[in-house]
Amino acid sequence: MQLSKRLDLFGDEVFAYFNQKRRELESEGRRVFDLSVGTPDFATPDYIKRALVDSAADDANWKYSLHDKDELLQAVCDYYQRRYGVLGITPGMVMSCAGTQEGMQYVCAAIADPGDVALIPDPCYPVFRASTLLAGATPHYYPLTEDHYFLPHVADIPDDVADRAKYMIVSLPANPVGSVGTPKVYSEIIAFAKAHDIVVIHDNAYSDVVFDGPRGGSFLDYPGALDVGVEFLSLSKSFDVTGVRLSFVVGHPDIVAATRKLRGQVDFGKFFVEQDVAIACLTGSLDGVERQRLAYQERRDALCDGLEALGWQRPNCHGTLFVWAKLPHGRRDSAAFAMELMEKSGVIVTPGVSFGPHGEGYVRFALVMDVERIREAVAAIGEAGL
Ligand SMILES: Cc1ncc(COP(=O)(O)O)c(C=O)c1O
Repeated sequence: MQLSKRLDLFGDEVFAYFNQKRRELESEGRRVFDLSVGTPDFATPDYIKRALVDSAADDANWKYSLHDKDELLQAVCDYYQRRYGVLGITPGMVMSCAGTQEGMQYVCAAIADPGDVALIPDPCYPVFRASTLLAGATPHYYPLTEDHYFLPHVADIPDDVADRAKYMIVSLPANPVGSVGTPKVYSEIIAFAKAHDIVVIHDNAYSDVVFDGPRGGSFLDYPGALDVGVEFLSLSKSFDVTGVRLSFVVGHPDIVAATRKLRGQVDFGKFFVEQDVAIACLTGSLDGVERQRLAYQERRDALCDGLEALGWQRPNCHGTLFVWAKLPHGRRDSAAFAMELMEKSGVIVTPGVSFGPHGEGYVRFALVMDVERIREAVAAIGEAGL
């Protein structure tokens, strides 16, 4: 049997490998701190669970869901106003998808033709690269490095590359590097996109996990953003509903319509019960979201303080569920370091290189354990002499 060459675009899943090693350590009775994957450990709030149960009792909600409910589209529009202060979002500028992870494929394929260039951050959330490759586009990586505070620096993108690019994926707060967007960075990106006729796809998965100041905002709040792009509004991390797969493409109506057309060829839409869960998230109190943000910040402090006390450079983390730590003692090989860390201390992290070449020399810690456990993990790293 001969399978498609498309499969050769993708290597082995790094998480699968570390998962396997974790199971081996656990079966040996070793103490393990799994800080490799960004799955929140907070419980899903009761009012969200209730919305699911109530909605499931209605037979009408079990039919093919060929459209987004009007109440859902309106809830997203109202949320943009209430949460981000963004006015002017209308139902035609919103489409639900089964998570940003899935939606990204449709948006990329709706914008790019095979052979087109796409601007992707390096290091980045691996889905950006995968969606680009599945669309047949050619990634051009723009680096997120320490010398520019791990932020996009569009002035370094060569003009001839920019002129051939169809879209640019921007995701701030940034997984894995923990940087947070600034008005200056966004205005540079929007001006650059306009100058080179590039669509900006902004992934806003961590707008509710921004530290040391006010809550995160929306890309669509910046002047000109709605002329050049769309944003993914994911409910996964803010409301601890990662398994329900709730995200939205929001922004330029032509891009939303094109994405809807493409997706409609292969998918009937979000289960109505899940749509009602989304409405509960979007219309409910945001107090829990704020409490959670502060809890993540305490975890960030415990981890960064602890690593610094062990002699590591203080890691970068102004937002997201992730701490981006430069390897200590002049080490460079992130995969070898992560393996040694796991074997000697039981702490599992993700090697930076798995997020792109500029991730080499770093590892990513996920803030998915409470402060006490994080302190124990740091102590284990110290005892292992790392
Ligand atoms: C940058 C980024 N975008 C999107 C997602 C996933 O979002 P969703 O659950 O909406 O697919 C993640 C999850 O880790 C992420 O890190």
